[in-house]
This record gives sequence, C-alpha cells and structure tokens, in this order.
Amino acid sequence: MKFTVFVLFLFTHTNTLFADKPCAIRSIANQSVVCVCNSTYCDEVLRDQPAPGTFVVYTSSSGGLRFKKSVGQWSYDQTCCKLTLELDPSKKYQRIEGFGGAVTDSAAINWKSLPPVLQDYLVNSYFSENGLEYNMVRTPIGGCDFSTRPYAYNELPLDDGGLTNYTLSPEDIFYKIPMFKSILKVAKTTVHVIATTWSPPVWMKSNHNYSGSSQLKPQYYQSYADYHLKFIEKYTAAGVPIWGITTTNEPINGLLSLAKFNSLGWTMQEMGKWIEHNLGPTIRNSKFKNVKIITGDDQRITIPYWFNVMLIYSPKALEYIDGIGVHYYTDKFIPPAIFESVTLTHPDKFILATEACEGSFPWEKSKVLLGSWARAKAYIIDIFQDLNYNLVGWIDWNLCLDMEGGPNWAGNFVDSPIIVDKERQEFHKQPMFYAMGHFSKFIPRNSIRIKITEKHSILPSSLHKIAFLTPKNTIVVIIYNDGNAKSINIRNKKHKATLLLEAHSITTVEYPHT
Ligand SMILES: *[C@@H]1O[C@H](CO)[C@@H](O)[C@H](O)[C@H]1NC(C)=O
Ligand SMILES: *[C@@H]1O[C@H](CO)[C@@H](O)[C@H](O)[C@H]1NC(C)=O
Ligand SMILES: *[C@@H]1O[C@H](CO)[C@@H](O)[C@H](O)[C@H]1NC(C)=O
Ligand SMILES: *[C@@H]1O[C@H](CO)[C@@H](O)[C@H](O)[C@H]1NC(C)=O
Repeated sequence: MKFTVFVLFLFTHTNTLFADKPCAIRSIANQSVVCVCNSTYCDEVLRDQPAPGTFVVYTSSSGGLRFKKSVGQWSYDQTCCKLTLELDPSKKYQRIEGFGGAVTDSAAINWKSLPPVLQDYLVNSYFSENGLEYNMVRTPIGGCDFSTRPYAYNELPLDDGGLTNYTLSPEDIFYKIPMFKSILKVAKTTVHVIATTWSPPVWMKSNHNYSGSSQLKPQYYQSYADYHLKFIEKYTAAGVPIWGITTTNEPINGLLSLAKFNSLGWTMQEMGKWIEHNLGPTIRNSKFKNVKIITGDDQRITIPYWFNVMLIYSPKALEYIDGIGVHYYTDKFIPPAIFESVTLTHPDKFILATEACEGSFPWEKSKVLLGSWARAKAYIIDIFQDLNYNLVGWIDWNLCLDMEGGPNWAGNFVDSPIIVDKERQEFHKQPMFYAMGHFSKFIPRNSIRIKITEKHSILPSSLHKIAFLTPKNTIVVIIYNDGNAKSINIRNKKHKATLLLEAHSITTVEYPHT
C-alpha cells in the first residue's frame, strides 16, 4: 500500500511540475478569441494518462474555452433514453499515419522573424509534448507561391538535363532547414516529411514560365524524376530525412492555368507514363527506395481520374504508388463518398489529406480572420468527414503566416492557425490551431479507428463524432457539438461516462481500454 501511495505522490508531483498553462485570451470583436504568445508566456497543454475507472475530457468552444481539462468517473449505465454514443472497439477501420502542417518559405521566414524564445514557443506549440504533438510536415521542393520570389533548383545552365548545378536555395539554408532542425529537436515521435514540387526550372516546361498553362517537355521526363531524388539526397544530407514525395502539386492548376503561381500541368495519361517509366524506377532503384510515392495531391474531384483512370492507361504505375494526396479547397462542394472510388477498389493504398487552409477564395475578403470560430469549425467538420472515410491523416498548409496572410509573391494571401505579429513580437493562436490539436494530440500514429454509433437521438442530432483505439491502449472519442449545451452519455459495455458538451464546442475524451 505504501508503494501505491508513493507512486501516486510521484505522479501528482510530476503533474504539477509540468502543469498546463492556460490560453492568454485576447477577445476579438464579433469573433471567438485568440491566444497570445509573447516572449514571456505561451499556453501549453499536456495529455494526461487517464487512471483506471476515469476519463479525461478536453474542451474548446466558440465561447472561448481552449483545452479546458476535467476528469470524470465511469458509473453503471441505468439510463435508457439519453443521447448516447456507443463504442464498439471490436469493429476496426483504418490505421492513422499522422497530422501536421507545412514548412513553406513563408512559414519559415515568419518564424525566423521572431526572437529565439518565441521561435521555440512556436515550434513547441505544434510539435512538443506540451503542444499539439504534430508528427507530419509537408514542404515544397524549391519555391511555391508562399515564397518571396518564384524559383526552382538548377535554373542555370538552361537545358541542363543532367542537373549539374543542383544546389539548395538561400531559403532552404537560412529559413526552412533551421526550422526543421528546431522541429526535429522537440518532436516526441518521428516526423514524417512529405516533399512536393510546384514547378521545376522553366527550361523543363513547355511555356518557359513558372506559372500559366504548361506541361513537362518530353525530353525532361527523367530529369524531373532526378530532380526529386536530388532533393531527397540534399535534405537527408542536411539532417532532414524525407518520408514521402507527391507527384506534383495540383496538376490541374498547371493544365488549365487556374492559379497564377508556380505550377506544372499533367494529363492523366502523361502522369501515368512518368510514374511508370521515370519517377517510380528512379526512387525504387535508389538508396531511398522506401520513400512513399503519393499521387494526386489535388482536389477531391480529381481522384477518380488521376488514380483510377490513370491506371487504365498505365497499370504498372500502380506498383510504385503508395497512396494518394487530397486537397481541401472544394470539400464544401464535393462529398467525401468520392474516396470510395479508391478505398473500395484499392484498400492497400492510403489516402492522406495533404493541404488545407481557410480564406483562399477570391470572395473571402478577410484573408486572415483573427478569432474566427467559423474557420475552426470548417476544419473540424472536414477532418471528421475525411477520417470517417478512412483517410490516414490530415496535413494543414502554412504553419504560420504574417498579419496579412503572407508573404506570397503571387498575392495569394490566406489564413493560418498561427499568425505572427512581427511588429509586436508576439503570435496569435487562432481557433483553427485548437481545432487541429483536438485530433493531432490525441490520435497518435498507429491509432486505429473504431466504431461509434449514436443511440436514442430523437431528432437528427447536431453531433459529429469519431473514435480511436490508441497504441497506449486507451480509447479516444472526439465530438463536435454544433448545437446548444447538452448532456450526453458515452457507453462502453455496461458502463457510462456522462459529459456536458458546451455549445458549439469540440470535446476530446480519453479513457483506458479494458
Ligand atoms: C506576455 O503575456 C503575459 C500573459 O498575457 C503578460 O502577463 C505579460 O505582461 C506579457 N509580456 C509582455 C512583454 O508583453
Ligand atoms: C460587429 O458586428 C456589428 C453588428 O453586425 C457591426 O456593426 C460591427 O461593425 C462589427 N464590428 C467589427 C469590428 O467587425
Ligand atoms: C549555378 O547556379 C547558380 C545559382 O544557384 C548560378 O549563379 C550559376 O551561374 C549557375 N552555374 C552555371 C554554370 O550556370
Ligand atoms: C508568365 O506567365 C504569367 C501569367 O501566368 C505572365 O503574367 C508573365 O508575363 C509570364 N512571364 C514570362 C516571362 O513570360
């Protein structure tokens, strides 16, 4: 008994040493709140180990709660008719790869504009055990619109198919690699880095331009495959191992000239050929043969074309493809059932959400909207949809942007979960930051989604829900309540946990799996 008391004491003691630090709230007119981090303070949250017979609850709400933590006790379930979420851990779905954001030139430039203590706060906020525990990062190969200039590697000499002058850019050396180093130092688990090309050097392209409608010149198919392998070599040598690459960012943009920034167009026939004859063999015959090859990397609507139809033309491309990347920007118009064109036909290929942001549409006047709960909710609903359709992870876009939503050489400003105010030497954690955290922090890599069903709801309820069995043998349930405050039960066999869901709130619950 004495031993137990001693252990309990240690446990409590450790907890007080590393206590949560609450949000330093700043109210925003007509919006929810932001949490401000400055050179002396930044909020933190720890994931508590739930004791047997208890459950731990974390809540963030439109009303201004941010990871508010409480502990409850399971009791015998004698109620029959209350709104109940019933768990069935024996019914298992996909395995989770992870969650993260993007180290673009712009994110790294904003990060570097802060004093060192705030740089640490920012990286810790996303990657450490006191933060969101992100375990994935996407990064451009060369420039994208979130750069201060359009560029690629090996721009000179022209028509240098052998890539004899491939060197990293000043942006890599001074901004991105230092940010990666800082991330890899604090991350608790292995960070899986995915690299993507927006545009190769212009001499490889039909229109000799970074933007506009273009295709790869046929004589440079192999050079463009080598262009990827060289990036993997350079970043690995710089201490940043690459886990996966995608097969070009948003190829439809480059084909139809939909975006006025770095792009490269592909037809599905040409993409299939390139993967089958160039990219696939180049990666698989290299030292980096285990790097994942992720195709698609475009909006939901493209998946049946750039995967299923592409394979009709190039069936052998399939043996090189590990998974498919999907972007967020048309999700309000294209239902997630479209994923079944892959999950049902090719259950061995994963689908991963590789890019998302709010404020990107021309009709959205506020590019950065401080304190917007509506934008957090848009992320939350989308993550529920994607994970409930068997996606294996969700990667946000820029880890941080400035007050304008940039820099962006093409004027394509957008929002980010962290907005840096260089003048005031502080940064704002948006509601979207906490939206990400309710998933990323509590669904570690190799968690398995399990079945959860709603019982005794009289009307169609305003709840979104999802549940996982984690590698720590705990069950994590995440609930979004889009209605008024309400009391519900979670039922696990004969036991129930009663929760009060705040109005317009996201709640994560964790308890030991017995
Ligand atoms: C930093 O934020 C904390 C918490 O809001 C506040 O008490 C402190 O005065 C701020 N420090 C500076 C230098 O602004
Ligand atoms: C807040 O909303 C009110 C009423 O819609 C409006 O009059 C006011 O201008 C808004 N304030 C800001 C700062 O947007
Ligand atoms: C190699 O690239 C650098 C820029 O990275 C450029 O300044 C230099 O002229 C290039 N060398 C040749 C031989 O083109
Ligand atoms: C590249 O294309 C853009 C349109 O996407 C155009 O405005 C620009 O003038 C072009 N640049 C060159 C060097 O042709």
